[in-house]
Amino acid sequence: MAAVEAVGAYTLLRLGDDGGDTGAPGQFFMLRAEPAPAAAYLPRAVSAAWAGDGELAFLLDVRGAGTRALTEARTVSVVGPLGRGFDLAAGPSILVGGGIGAAILPWLRRRLEQRGDVRTVLGFRSPEHAVCAGIVDPDATVVLDPVLVTEPLARLLPASATVYACGPDRMLEAVAALCAEHDVPCQLAMEAAMACGFGACYGCAVRLDGTWKRLCIEGPVVEAARVLA
Ligand SMILES: Cc1cc2nc3c(=O)[nH]c(=O)nc-3n(C[C@H](O)[C@H](O)[C@H](O)COP(=O)(O)OP(=O)(O)OC[C@H]3O[C@@H](n4cnc5c(N)ncnc54)[C@H](O)[C@@H]3O)c2cc1C
Ligand code: FES
Repeated sequence: MAAVEAVGAYTLLRLGDDGGDTGAPGQFFMLRAEPAPAAAYLPRAVSAAWAGDGELAFLLDVRGAGTRALTEARTVSVVGPLGRGFDLAAGPSILVGGGIGAAILPWLRRRLEQRGDVRTVLGFRSPEHAVCAGIVDPDATVVLDPVLVTEPLARLLPASATVYACGPDRMLEAVAALCAEHDVPCQLAMEAAMACGFGACYGCAVRLDGTWKRLCIEGPVVEAARVLA
């Protein structure tokens, strides 16, 4: 059974955890509303906002039939965890989120706080979208369009920290370049359209290491240097 709550412009989908493996921050699940409407027969890839205490939660940007069906479903089928999540480093961390990319960060932040100081910078297109900053990090630095999230990040660098980022491709490229400039380790949670989620369809190919690779197998979290290669 699903519980659905509005979080500003986004929607929080809370599922009961049936006791299966919930994986680690940055991994993803293939979610499908049951029964599936014809327009949303294929499952949609979504990373958990958090898992634990009997709950698996997802923050959704409702874009089309698949995500809308999830918010209206009485039952949701969950396949996962899939892919490679974040490699949690010791010491201070900087979290960077752009738009719905922030969805992946609450669970990561909780885990990283056990290892060192965590700073969070988030960028959104409107105040309504920025409401979700409260569930990511109440102390986050938040910027709104047209200010880019790389502006507050640049003020934090150089730093003896690991940067973890999720957001649109152009934001990830800018974050990767900034971290490379300051020689700061950086991991990116990337997105691609995923039909299967386990390596069979090749629909999720992205440029990594200068060639095309399946994001569902190599990622979705990858070292930033692999994107810049
Ligand atoms: C590993 C991974 C984790 C994700 N985590 C989240 C999450 O936590 N919360 C969330 O809201 N979304 C997440 N997404 C994106 C989500 O999978 C897509 O938004 C969703 O599939 C759109 O389905 P739809 O049926 O609602 O829209 P569709 O009708 O399929 O598409 C609507 C619009 O969204 C675009 N779109 C579709 N799929 C993607 C995609 N994968 N990336 C970018 N744009 C897309 C389409 O081009 C179209 O413009 C994640 C994607 C991946 C690959
Ligand atoms: S989603 Fe099918 S191969 Fe990656």
